[in-house]
Amino acid sequence: MRIAITFNIKKEKENLVTIKEELSPKKDFSKYLNENLISNYPERLDDTYAEWDCEETIDAVRSALEAGGHDVTLIEADRDAYEKLKIIEPEFVFNLAEGIGSVSRESQIPAMLEMLNIPYTGSDPVTIGICHDKARCKEILSYYNIPNPEFFITDDINKINGNITFPKFVKPLHEGSSKGIFNSSVVNNTEELKNEIIRIKECYNQPSLVEEYLTGKEFTVAMLGNGDEVRVLPIVEINLDSVPEGFNKIYSYEVKWFFDTRENKLDIFKCPAEIDPELYSLIEKVCKDAYKALRIRDWARIDVRLDKDNIPNIVEINPLPGILPDPADNSCYPKAARGVGLNYVDMINAVLIEARARNVI
Ligand SMILES: Nc1ncnc2c1ncn2[C@@H]1O[C@H](COP(=O)(O)OP(=O)(O)OP(=O)(O)O)[C@@H](O)[C@H]1O
Ligand SMILES: [Mg+2]
Repeated sequence: MRIAITFNIKKEKENLVTIKEELSPKKDFSKYLNENLISNYPERLDDTYAEWDCEETIDAVRSALEAGGHDVTLIEADRDAYEKLKIIEPEFVFNLAEGIGSVSRESQIPAMLEMLNIPYTGSDPVTIGICHDKARCKEILSYYNIPNPEFFITDDINKINGNITFPKFVKPLHEGSSKGIFNSSVVNNTEELKNEIIRIKECYNQPSLVEEYLTGKEFTVAMLGNGDEVRVLPIVEINLDSVPEGFNKIYSYEVKWFFDTRENKLDIFKCPAEIDPELYSLIEKVCKDAYKALRIRDWARIDVRLDKDNIPNIVEINPLPGILPDPADNSCYPKAARGVGLNYVDMINAVLIEARARNVI
């Protein structure tokens, strides 16, 4: 089959590299805390392209599809994408594109493909757009009584009154890859909360999602398939004990991108999660319920964290999961796939098979 991969390729900025180099090779985490590198030097962190894929990932997906016997073209999801799709007319698209701009960016390529009547992997523009707006996603989860932390959204510190209970967790309303989520995202009083709302508005030009802070274990769950046949791949536990001492137990931007590197790997994943069977089934159920409620297609990775009563809550849903190809990198979806014997080639082709079955091609 003639398949095109739609993607956005990472342009790593020097600023990001500066902090990374200062920290990770030396594992000098105390320097980070003492000097508060992000808050004091925001200009040194440019995370604009953090969600985009690196060349290595796009190449690996291309090789995997070629190994599946397909003829593969690469289409960068830039402003010319529509014209390129129209001219190339692929029979199917493997969509990895994060899109450009604001909240609905991940819907851009799926919407173009619908207009051109080209079938593609993954969720449709509505679902993918809703999941990217974390509050809209939570509203749907709540409608179906699927547990998720209580929340409100705001970009106005004047609306913060004395009735708020702490701690709270503050994050940008519509980002991924832990963009905007730092050690300071856990807030214990009104002043810290206001500072985070201001920072998120200034750096990301969007409201803050202020949530109940879930303090229990964290998991991430790779899903594959459609309808009642959807498979829950082995649950990955995020080993928050591996977060350096002095830092809040969250899978923050610092942990994901600065502290856990190829050179200095944190022991961040346990797969499958070593938890009792009852809890394991509860997590599987909440993820299946969320997948169905949001009408996710083909694949997704769902983040889950236990609340103080050990109830699994949905933290967020990623209908375009990260898929770093090198097992030496910590990447949850490929890790979970390996857990059921699917190597990278099998995993990519399994997603395509699901999408084709749905489109009956
Ligand atoms: N309400 C919460 N309570 C406790 N921890 C939270 C909460 N929300 C987020 N976190 C922590 O912050 C991390 C990142 O949050 P979230 O998954 O919402 O961000 P993201 O940028 O969409 O992540 P991804 O890289 O998975 O796309 C979570 O993995 C978790 O450790
Ligand atoms: Mg997440």
